[in-house]
Amino acid sequence: MSLDVVILAAGQGSRMRSRLPKVLHTLAGRSMLQRIIDSAKQLSDVTLHVVVGHGADQIEAALAGQPDIHFVYQQQQLGTGHAVAQALPALGDGPVLILTGDTPLLTSATLEQLSAGLAQDQLTLLSVVHEDPSGYGRIVRDDSGQVTAIVEQKDASEQQRLIRECNTGLMGTTGALLKRWLPALSANNAQGEYYLTDIVGMAYAEGVPLDAVQAGCVEEVSGVNDRRQLAALERWLQRQQAEQAMAQGASLADPARFDQRGTLTLGRDVTIDVGCIFEGDVTLEDGVSVGPYCVIRDSHIGADTHIEAYSHIDGASAAGNNQIGPYARLRPGSTLAAEAKVGNFVEIKKATLDHGTKVNHLSYIGDAHIGQHTNVGAGTITCNYDGVNKHHTEIGSNVFVGSNTALVAPITIGDRVTIAAGSTLTDSVEQGLAFGRARQTVKENWRRAEQDDER
Ligand code: UD1
Ligand code: CA
Repeated sequence: MSLDVVILAAGQGSRMRSRLPKVLHTLAGRSMLQRIIDSAKQLSDVTLHVVVGHGADQIEAALAGQPDIHFVYQQQQLGTGHAVAQALPALGDGPVLILTGDTPLLTSATLEQLSAGLAQDQLTLLSVVHEDPSGYGRIVRDDSGQVTAIVEQKDASEQQRLIRECNTGLMGTTGALLKRWLPALSANNAQGEYYLTDIVGMAYAEGVPLDAVQAGCVEEVSGVNDRRQLAALERWLQRQQAEQAMAQGASLADPARFDQRGTLTLGRDVTIDVGCIFEGDVTLEDGVSVGPYCVIRDSHIGADTHIEAYSHIDGASAAGNNQIGPYARLRPGSTLAAEAKVGNFVEIKKATLDHGTKVNHLSYIGDAHIGQHTNVGAGTITCNYDGVNKHHTEIGSNVFVGSNTALVAPITIGDRVTIAAGSTLTDSVEQGLAFGRARQTVKENWRRAEQDDER
């Protein structure tokens, strides 16, 4: 049966003190809202409704390209009950999950648990026990343990404020029940809002099956209201990911200084020094070592490669036994065959280095292919851009490129060619030794200016 998922994201989130709507703030590289959407999408046969109001344009723009999301507009933010009511016309009578856009670490397993058995008319809440429950709606139970209501902090009696079981804001019910209950809500409470949580009392009064499942983990259901809470959840998640990495056989110099903003696939005996950031989809095969303060995004690093400190690697692949950095920059489309080396202050873009080729110092290699066992001297530049178009540089195998060479593309350098240091080459070279610089002249009788001469 199809499942309607309503995600509330119309509030301003004023405590973030931000121009960006709260739900667009990111946690481990993805916005809070995107995280919830991604978790919800893992359930089968879902229809997603996102309730937007504050910053609706920004939120829609951020979710552009995800055509399966249905936006619902809440012009005025009159409360969570009012927000869900705006989605009613789009809901069927079957199961509905209500989620909030500011609980970024919600897992699909919990959503699965909450949506199980929602076919019949019932109301299931997700609750959590907080050490300090202040600010949250409290789950009120009678002597038999039956849930009877949710009372918001501002409406709670002294006695009720002692309750530590809190509403996470997540609940599951059916469209048929919501269509009956929501129009009956009143704003007669401390905040003058239409509380979604008032449907709990209605369910109890009508004898509709009503229960609260407790979340196992506080962080997973924690709502973010300010940047401090966002940072706390970020650190918690990073710690979990660091522990996962170690469980897979990686050594982390300091699990507290490890940031994974995407998926990280790890071989055995990978070592990662402090301050590294992994973004997107990264694979580090067996025996890879990553030095301190490297940023690696969407890249595949083959076995026994050593990446030295402060290297930035993006959209690159290294076949294995490579030496990279320190201070190397591999940009998208960089491909290193086995045993290729890229040294300090070298930038590689859309270029392939074949087996054993070395670019060790201070160079830019862009839009190029270099054959095997070629040595590219310090300060070599492929001049790939003519101001309008990019051009290709082809360098053969066993080539020796002297230091400070400029290769003006398009250009082809044949196998075993030697290029003299300081050359600027504009024409292709098939074989032999190429000079592209002025011949040195020496004026032996030249006399340097001296003090006396100046007068
Ligand atoms: C809500 C719950 C509270 C629960 C807490 C958990 C209600 C009345 N209270 O309180 O029981 O313990 O969450 O974090 O539901 N929103 C709209 N439109 C509105 C109002 C809110 O879309 O008119 C959205 C917000 O953007 C947010 C979510 O609903 O994503 C929750 O709203 P918020 O104001 O943060 O509710 P809380 O006071 O935290
Ligand atoms: Ca909240």
